[in-house]
Amino acid sequence: MLLARGHGAIAHMDGFDPATSFGPDVAARYDNVLRGDEEQAVAFLAERAGAGPALELAVGTGRIALPLAATGIQVDGIEQSAAMAAVLAGKPGGSQVAVTMGDMSRADAPGGPYELVYLVYNTIGNLLTQDDQVRCFSNAARHLSPSGTFVVETGTGWGWFSGRTSYVDAEQVSARAVVLDVNRFDPASQILEENHVHISAEGIRMDPIAQRVAPPGELDLMARIAGLQLTERYGWWDGRPFEASCPSHVSVYRRPTAEPEAE
Ligand SMILES: C[S@@+](CC[C@H](N)C(=O)[O-])C[C@H]1O[C@@H](n2cnc3c(N)ncnc32)[C@H](O)[C@@H]1O
Repeated sequence: MLLARGHGAIAHMDGFDPATSFGPDVAARYDNVLRGDEEQAVAFLAERAGAGPALELAVGTGRIALPLAATGIQVDGIEQSAAMAAVLAGKPGGSQVAVTMGDMSRADAPGGPYELVYLVYNTIGNLLTQDDQVRCFSNAARHLSPSGTFVVETGTGWGWFSGRTSYVDAEQVSARAVVLDVNRFDPASQILEENHVHISAEGIRMDPIAQRVAPPGELDLMARIAGLQLTERYGWWDGRPFEASCPSHVSVYRRPTAEPEAE
């Protein structure tokens, strides 16, 4: 599929449509296996949200938004998948999260300005062009109060391939089933094509995703274009230092504060 022209056409995984990739099947099983970072992520985000309100870009089924709202902060969301939003709306407290349906790089959430806007779980990469990722930073900045904070949590990409452009990881192995994580990365387009292949006696199921992997420094420049600057960066939600070995980073962006006038 051709996504963009400019510095050459950008292609990604044959048969994969980012606009429909979180459809009813994925939404129905999304919360079956949680990522496990929910408690730490909510603590980190609540500390930066102050009295709120907060806005989650790509809010999904409310995995983070609902426990964050349970701390007493108003949390709104932007989401493009009707199926994911429907799962959120059906959960206890789900009706309290106002979800604007649309593309997180363009949609307007009406409940701002927000003290906190956040985008987690590698989801900046779901925007498959640099233009859309830049637009997403600008959209986040546009929703922030003057003192507001934009938090991005995503993979660095740099440790994943160890010089290879494709690999298969045995993600789960048991006597009855295996899950193979099949990856191919094109450094020229920065597109990672990934398919989680579930093989069991019941059959074979594919969970494909395509991501545009932008390293931390590129995200920092996107923030600058949006009028923000990096103010904190950690290797994970627990505040560990960000180092070369970190597979992910949690980055915090704010508007620059005016320098005091020199006497
Ligand atoms: C990995 S899930 C993350 C959901 C939630 N943030 C979480 O942490 O559980 C990715 C979500 O991003 C949504 N999404 C992908 N691209 C989007 C876009 N351009 N605009 C809005 N939502 C998008 C998908 O529909 C899906 O709900």
